[in-house]
Amino acid sequence: MKIAFFDTKPYDKQSFEQYASDDLKFKFFETKLNIDTADLARGCDVVCIFVNDTADAAVIDKLYDLGVKVLALRCAGYNNVDVKHAYGKIHVVHVPAYSPYAVAEHTMAMLLTSIRRIHKAYIRTKDFNFSLSGLTGFDLYGKTVGVIGTGKIGRVFIDICRGFGMKVLAYDKFPTENTPCEYVELDRLFAESDIISLHCPLTAETHHIIDEKSINKMKKGVVILNTSRGALIDADALLEGIKSRKIGAACLDVYEEESDIFFEDFSGHIVDDDTLARLISMPNVIVTSHQAFLTEEALGNIAETTISNIKEILENGCSQNELCYHCGNTTNCKAQRLGKCF
Ligand code: NAI
Repeated sequence: MKIAFFDTKPYDKQSFEQYASDDLKFKFFETKLNIDTADLARGCDVVCIFVNDTADAAVIDKLYDLGVKVLALRCAGYNNVDVKHAYGKIHVVHVPAYSPYAVAEHTMAMLLTSIRRIHKAYIRTKDFNFSLSGLTGFDLYGKTVGVIGTGKIGRVFIDICRGFGMKVLAYDKFPTENTPCEYVELDRLFAESDIISLHCPLTAETHHIIDEKSINKMKKGVVILNTSRGALIDADALLEGIKSRKIGAACLDVYEEESDIFFEDFSGHIVDDDTLARLISMPNVIVTSHQAFLTEEALGNIAETTISNIKEILENGCSQNELCYHCGNTTNCKAQRLGKCF
C-alpha cells in the first residue's frame, strides 16, 4: 500500500515514518493538494491531507480517476473536503480527537499572553528595557467567558476557564448535559461576555458567526479567541472592530485566507494580504500559524489514528472515523450501522 502525504513538514514525517514498512510505503510532498498537484498521487492507494489542502469536487474526481481509494485527513476539521461529492467514490476518514488539551491549552496560552502583555514584555526585557508602562493587564478571575461550541475542545477550555474562577456562558447547536456552563442564546453570549472563544466547526451556519452585526452586540473591550477555523470570523469586520476600539484584543490561531500563507516562511517577502498585515501590526492582536494542535502528544495520536483509519478501510471497508454523506440508503450500510452517517 502506498500513501501520498501532501503539505508535509519535518514533524509530520517524523511522526509517521515509524509506521513505514515493505507493505506500507510513504511518499511525502511539501506541496498542498489541489487540482494542479493531484497528479502526484498517481500510483498511490491513499492520499493523506491536512487543514489547508483542497479536496473539492474536481480534486476528488481526479483522485478517483487515479485509483485513490481513501482520503485520510490527519486533522479533525473537514470543511476543505467535499464529503458529499466523495460519497460512493472515495472513503474519507479523519482524526476526530487527538488532543483536545493541545488546542484548549493553546487557546488559554494566547489569552494570557494577550491580556498580561507577555508578548510585549518578552521583547522589552530582551532589550534590557525593564519599564512596566503600558503593560497593565486584567484579572481573569470573575470575568465572563462565552464559549461557542462545547464539544471536545470547548469542554476542555471550559474546565480550564473554571479553574481560573471565570463564569462560563456557552452556545452550542447541540447542547450536552453535564457541561459545567450556562447555555444561552448567542445574543446573550455576545452581550455579556468579556472574552469569546470559538470552538465550533466551520459550516454554512457558522461561517462569519463573528461579523459586523455580532460585533455590534458585544461589550466594549471584548477579547476574541479563535483557534477553530478562520472563516468563523469576518476578518475585515474584526479589523474594523479593533480600529474602533470596540474589540479589546484578538488572538487568532487561524485566519480566513490562511491557506496560502500559514505554515510557510514569508519573513523575507511582502505579504499581499493587507487585512492580515494590518491585523498583525496591531498591538492587541496575536496571531499564531495554526499551531494549536502542535504538541508531541497530538502528533503521535494523529499518526497512530490515521494509519489505523486507513487500515480499517482497506481491510474492512469501513472505519469508526469515516465521514460519510447521508445518502438515505440504509440497507446494509456499514456507515449507518456505525453511526457515521450525517
Ligand atoms: P467537536 O465536534 O467535538 O465539537 C464541536 C462542537 O460544535 C459540537 O459540540 C457541536 O455540537 C458544535 N456545533 C456544531 N454546529 C454548531 C453551530 N452551528 N453553532 C454552535 N455550535 C455548533 O470538535 P472539536 O474536536 O472540539 O473541535 C472543534 C473545532 O476546532 C474543529 O471543528 C476544528 O475546526 C478546530 N480545530 C482546530 C485546531 C487547531 O490546531 N487550531 C486543531 C483541531 C481542531
